[in-house]
This record gives sequence, C-alpha cells and structure tokens, in this order.
Amino acid sequence: MAGMIRLVVNGRAVAVDDDPATPLLYVLRDTLELNGAKFGCGLGQCGACSVLLDGRPIFSCQVPVGDLGGRRITTLEGLGTRARPGAVQQAFIAEQAAQCGYCTAGMIVRAHALLERVANPTEGEIRAALEPNLCRCGAHWRILRAVRRAGAARRTAPG
Ligand code: FES
Ligand code: FES
Repeated sequence: MAGMIRLVVNGRAVAVDDDPATPLLYVLRDTLELNGAKFGCGLGQCGACSVLLDGRPIFSCQVPVGDLGGRRITTLEGLGTRARPGAVQQAFIAEQAAQCGYCTAGMIVRAHALLERVANPTEGEIRAALEPNLCRCGAHWRILRAVRRAGAARRTAPG
C-alpha cells in the first residue's frame, strides 16, 4: 500500500502507515505493541527508549520513522523472551540489576550492542557505552556487574 513504511523489527518484516514524522518509539509501542523501550524524557537525554538500528544503539524518541524505511531495528523483545532470556537479560536477573526498572530495557539493549562489538570490554568501555543512559535509582554497580557477567557468559557459551 502506498505510504506504508517498511521496517525489519526483531527479524520480522513489518509495514506501518504512521505519519513519517512519528518518532520510532511511538511506532514501536503504540503501533507494534512492543513496550520494552520506554518513554522517559522524549528529548534524547535519558536512554530509556534505546533500541538498535542496524546493530547500533539509538534514542528511538528522536528518530522519525519515515527516515527508517528498510532498516533493521532490534528492541528488548528481540534479545530474548521471558522463557528464554538472552545472556544480558539473564545477567541482569542474576545480579538483580534493577530497582524501579525504568532504565533497564535501555541498559540491556546498549550492553548487548557493546558485547556484540567487544567480547571482553574493560570497565571503562562498559561505562562509556552505558553513559548515555541514566539510572535514577543508583543501580549502577549492579548494572556494571551484570554487564561483566553477561560478557563472561557469552565468552564461555558453547558454539
Ligand atoms: S525517552 Fe528517549 S532519550 Fe529519554
Ligand atoms: S533502576 Fe530505576 S532508573 Fe534505573
């Protein structure tokens, strides 16, 4: 249909007819009912809305969906399920790396992107990768431990 915007979201081809100026975050949450990414500030300042665009983290509140035709988007939902959580999700659970949980999806998405790029990141690299995302609750130490745990788990995973 004319005007449809085609995307690949979590490996699935989708077409949406939202206004092209609509922020990707709203399309994900309202049209596609993927509620992992959160609305925090809407201003590109908190990272709660982080998703991956062709594997790189972006603030989905800041990107108009009309700019993304044909691009590959990965949300928290694409990194695992409740029954089969991915390595970073498992590590966040094991380390109890959340308090209110509002930042958690964005942190997991950004940590996943880092570990795809750098198998064994230094503390400095982890901090730099997560720096755009805010946690207001002070869960930082647990989040850092979770990312280190996830990295170790990925490095020792079979295959
Ligand atoms: S909601 Fe997008 S950066 Fe805060
Ligand atoms: S756990 Fe509440 S903002 Fe991070």
